[in-house]
Amino acid sequence: MTVSETIAEPGAGVVTDTGPGGLRPAAEVLRPHAEDAFAHELAALAAADDRPRPARWRLSPRAVATYLLGGTLPDGTVITPKYVGPRRIVEVAVTTLATDRALLLLGVPGTAKTWLSEHLAAAVSGDSTLLVQGTAGTGEEAVRYGWNYARLLAEGPGRAALVPSPVLRAMERGATARVEELTRMPADVQDALITILSEKTLPVPELAEEVQAVPGFNLIATANDRDRGVNELSSALRRRFNTVVLPLPATAEDEVAIVARRVDQLGRSLELPAVPDGVAEIRRVVTVFRELRDGVTADGRTRLKSPSGTLSTAEAISVVTGGLALAAHFGDGVLRPSDTAAGILGAVVRDPAHDRVVWQEYLETVVRGRDGWQDFYRACREVGP
Ligand SMILES: Nc1ncnc2c1ncn2[C@@H]1O[C@H](COP(=O)(O)OP(=O)(O)O)[C@@H](O)[C@H]1O
Ligand SMILES: [Mg+2]
Repeated sequence: MTVSETIAEPGAGVVTDTGPGGLRPAAEVLRPHAEDAFAHELAALAAADDRPRPARWRLSPRAVATYLLGGTLPDGTVITPKYVGPRRIVEVAVTTLATDRALLLLGVPGTAKTWLSEHLAAAVSGDSTLLVQGTAGTGEEAVRYGWNYARLLAEGPGRAALVPSPVLRAMERGATARVEELTRMPADVQDALITILSEKTLPVPELAEEVQAVPGFNLIATANDRDRGVNELSSALRRRFNTVVLPLPATAEDEVAIVARRVDQLGRSLELPAVPDGVAEIRRVVTVFRELRDGVTADGRTRLKSPSGTLSTAEAISVVTGGLALAAHFGDGVLRPSDTAAGILGAVVRDPAHDRVVWQEYLETVVRGRDGWQDFYRACREVGP
């Protein structure tokens, strides 16, 4: 697809061209929302969907699961898998959204919590943008509402002066709200969600009013396993959620497939020249990450120390994407060990003292003697500490 072939309304963020792999990069935005990037898949699913849909859902729960896990529709439309993992996890996540409990996606960094949350909201409500980002500085107005002070002064308190939060808008529309990194928000802001999730109501005492959620409203929160203890979820809030723990990819092959697919999509949206047959290097990056993460080599023979970083799938994706850019712009168009070595080193060595030793040991005891890994060994020594 070239830019000039793209027909899009200004600001619409939607293109209609079909490219390989299912993703339609919108030429005028860097990263289209899931509902725009996969609009054709969602439309085909809706057309083929003859199962009952919960109130205001765009698709039936089963069609949402197909959107996430992939499949082929009766008319031949191929639905690309968005999430690679146990089917049951996806089924529990989707059905939770059709109940009166909210969904909490929990897991270590890089297990696709944010990714799954975006695609769930896109498939269920056709809108993944009702998003609150949790940080230590997130205030109550991000979860409830704020005020437009100019209007407040000019017109006095009224609905027109009220600035609804994404959660409030989701309640009014019967849509899916998203809260990222729930446990990073201060406890009192988290607690503002309790009434919303249990009473499905948000009081607005300044106007002596309340906003009642309409059917279709629900909320997906994500939280990081490693943040435990930062701002522990209160048990009152926790009870309002069904928790789904997202696992790391079960096998190396799964992880290679996840990385290869995502790198391919990213490469196209960044308009990187295509680099063919990167899969051998992708497999190597995934092997290094998994062995160091697990603390043992893939054959189970050699124990290893683990570095301080998480070495997540998401980091493998950035290492390979960075390598592809190097190969395309400065190499011969083939992804080689010298293109990924620096990225791997950067991901592994986070804590200069501890991780450097871990990496050195891995290089000398594992990489150096491994069949077919000599180029990689040399490339690592060249960039290495
Ligand atoms: N099981 C998986 N299936 C599909 N993609 C995955 C999976 N695990 C990781 N990814 C990819 O890795 C990235 C995960 O990033 P993200 O959702 O931000 O992780 P988290 O929010 O859990 O830290 C996404 O780009 C996604 O494509
Ligand atoms: Mg995340």
